[in-house]
Amino acid sequence: MSVRRLRIRRRRGEKLAMVTAYDWSFARLIAQTDVDAILVGDSAAMVMHGFADTPSVPLDAMIYHVASVARGAPEKFIIADIPFGWAHRSRDSFMDAVMKLVSAGAHAIKVEGTGIQNESIALALDAGIPVMGHIGLTPQHVHRLGGHRVQGKSEGAIETLVHEAKQLEDIGCFGCVLECVIPAAAQAIQAALESMITIGIGAGSETDGQILVMHDLLGLNQEHQPRFVRRFGEIGQATTDAVSSYIDAVRDVSYPSPEETYAS
Ligand code: KIV
Repeated sequence: MSVRRLRIRRRRGEKLAMVTAYDWSFARLIAQTDVDAILVGDSAAMVMHGFADTPSVPLDAMIYHVASVARGAPEKFIIADIPFGWAHRSRDSFMDAVMKLVSAGAHAIKVEGTGIQNESIALALDAGIPVMGHIGLTPQHVHRLGGHRVQGKSEGAIETLVHEAKQLEDIGCFGCVLECVIPAAAQAIQAALESMITIGIGAGSETDGQILVMHDLLGLNQEHQPRFVRRFGEIGQATTDAVSSYIDAVRDVSYPSPEETYAS
C-alpha cells in the first residue's frame, strides 16, 4: 500500500477502510486483512494507557507503538499521529519527532488541526513524508472545543471546515480525517476538494473512506461509546469470559489435564 495506491482506489470509487493499531499482536492480525492503511493514533493515550485524553501520550510512547505495529504489519501502509504540541515546536524539534516516527516504521504522519501547524506540515512534505490532516473534532484540542462535540453545525462552521480542508489540500496533504462532523459538512468538503482523500469517523458515509479505533470496533472498550461506533466484534467480553473459564479450570483442577502435562 502507498499513497499512490490509495489515490487509485479513490479514483475508482472504491471506499477505503482504515483502522488504528498500537501493538505487534493486533497488527499481525490486522495484517491478514485487506485494510487500506493502519493509523497508529494518539488514541493510544486512552485505549492503551488509560489516560483521560489524547494530549497525554508522550512522543516516546508513540515511537514505541509505531515500531511494534511496523514489526507486526510490515506490508501495510502505516500512518503515525504527531502527538500533541510537536507541530507547534521549532522546525528542528518537529522534524526530529517526525524522523523518529518514520525511522520506527511510519510511512506517513497525521497532524491535527490547521494554523501554525501548516508550516510544520509543509516541512514534512518538503522532506518527502506524506501528510494526512485531521479536522472537525480534533481531540488534541478537546479543551478548547469544550468537549467531544459534533462540529460543523452552522453554515459558518461548515465554511470554516471547507476552508481548512482546501488549505490542507493546497499545502499537499494526501488525505484528511474528518472527525465528528455533520453529513452536510462532509458533503461540502467533499465537493470542494479535487484530489485529497477524505477519511471519516463520525462524518457519515459521503467520505472516501472510514476509520475506526480498533478497540471500539472489536468491542474491547466497555465504556460508553459515541453514536458512530459500530462494534463488529465482542472481543472484550470474549476475553473476560475466557480468563474466567481459565480461573475456574485452575480452581477445579480440570486444568491442566493429563494431555496438557509432560510425560515423565
Ligand atoms: O488517534 C486516533 O485514533 C485518531 C482517529 C480517531 C482518527 O486520530
